[in-house]
Amino acid sequence: MDISSILQGGYQHPLSRSWQAKQQLTKSMLMYPIFISDDPEASQIIATLPGQRRWGVNKLEEFIGPLVKKGLKSVILFGVPLNCIKDARGTPADDPSGPVISAIKKLRSLFPSLYIACDVCLCEYTDHGHCGYLNQDGTIDNTPSVARIAEVAVNYAKAGAHCVAPSDMMDGRIKAIKRGLIDAGYGNRCTLMSYSAKFASSLYGPFRDAAGSAPSFGDRKCYQLPPSARGLARRAIQRDTAEGADIIMVKPALPYLDIIADAAQLASDHPIACYQVSGEFAMVHAGAAAGVYDLRAMAFESIEGMVRAGATLILTYFTPDFLDWLE
Ligand code: PBG
Ligand code: ZN
Repeated sequence: MDISSILQGGYQHPLSRSWQAKQQLTKSMLMYPIFISDDPEASQIIATLPGQRRWGVNKLEEFIGPLVKKGLKSVILFGVPLNCIKDARGTPADDPSGPVISAIKKLRSLFPSLYIACDVCLCEYTDHGHCGYLNQDGTIDNTPSVARIAEVAVNYAKAGAHCVAPSDMMDGRIKAIKRGLIDAGYGNRCTLMSYSAKFASSLYGPFRDAAGSAPSFGDRKCYQLPPSARGLARRAIQRDTAEGADIIMVKPALPYLDIIADAAQLASDHPIACYQVSGEFAMVHAGAAAGVYDLRAMAFESIEGMVRAGATLILTYFTPDFLDWLE
């Protein structure tokens, strides 16, 4: 055998195996998505998302406190309005006494070192369940959608969010939000994380159950990207960096590792995030329950793939598990 044929000598030990990663997975790379109910006492199981619940603001201390002790560094909040009146403009999104704004304030006061991001979208709050305003014919009315989404983002920043993350996929919203943040005096106090390459995926089902955000008619294919569209994803990533995004996100994650790698190359001076979405999380659980693999080993393999592709920030429902596993 040629000397240069022998590779196994380089990774025979757990430590030397760990050196093969360009980037090691650490707790600070994990952001935990949490669902905030407008029932302040809620602790409601979500059937399709193993181990996850809709939480009321009054339950956040007992829920998040132990995780912060284990090293939780960041969360992203999703509002779940159950008892409000949804309308065409998504009025409850930035209701000052609604779940998101209440949760931002509560978490800021309970856990001063916790980084708080907020998803920004209208679908949880519109009566039709779409992510923007609609024209008469059901198509997206882009200009007023972008104005409203920027308004909501600025209101989350004013409430104390460290980061706003628009997931709506309206054209031009990054520029509008950045302008809005700057004009309101938050240009240097709030990070703008763009869901830049967000695909129209079958993997959002459990989330839509959890958040009550399924569209009442049609689908999201005219604003979320086609799964085959690598070129559009690259253009969206480049557009959003040019419009002032501070972090670029790819979503879902595992079927789109090539897009994560593209983002790492196209936005090489930005942090790159990816979202292991609800359906991916459910898939990993379902396979483990069916005896296909070990849950922990598969969770690691999925996340390590994302890190290898170039992600430096991972939004995942496995965050509480990794806080134990990375101990
Ligand atoms: C809302 C939003 C969705 C997700 C994050 N923000 C659902 C959707 O676009 O329909 C999905 C997250 C997940 O599945 O975990 N725009
Ligand atoms: Zn939406």
